[in-house]
Amino acid sequence: MKKVLVINGPSLNLLGIREVDIYGQTTYKDLVKLINKEAKVLNLKTKCVQSNYEGKIIDYIQKAYSKFDGIIINPGAYSHYSYAIRDAIASVNIKTIEVHISDVLNREPFRASLVISDVCSKTIIGKGINGYLEALKEFE
Ligand code: DQA
Repeated sequence: MKKVLVINGPSLNLLGIREVDIYGQTTYKDLVKLINKEAKVLNLKTKCVQSNYEGKIIDYIQKAYSKFDGIIINPGAYSHYSYAIRDAIASVNIKTIEVHISDVLNREPFRASLVISDVCSKTIIGKGINGYLEALKEFE
């Protein structure tokens, strides 16, 4: 059974509270439930983690080395400037899918710069929380 680590970055723990018009009503807790449910259907084992801290996210990526077959990451605002998270993903050689709940290409201009995308196999944008479920299918 393939193991997939799902990493959510800053303020994604506030899903369901945070800017619901943009990110939707689903809470982080519900998102984790939905991911785990879909993983079962796809015969995958998932671990979901969230952190507001760049270093912690890098630690999660590094610790995934040789333990996980895949990573799904929504780096939150770090997506737009964290070369450190980008380099961590490039270091571990694990297939990584980037997810953005909102349509970052059609919001404030700073969100259109995605510095992690080039080390990810795929970037799923603007599909709401379904983006995470679509990302899981990449590891079927
Ligand atoms: C986000 C988009 C980012 O610009 C923002 O900072 C987030 C969430 C998204 O899922 O749409 O925290 O990654």
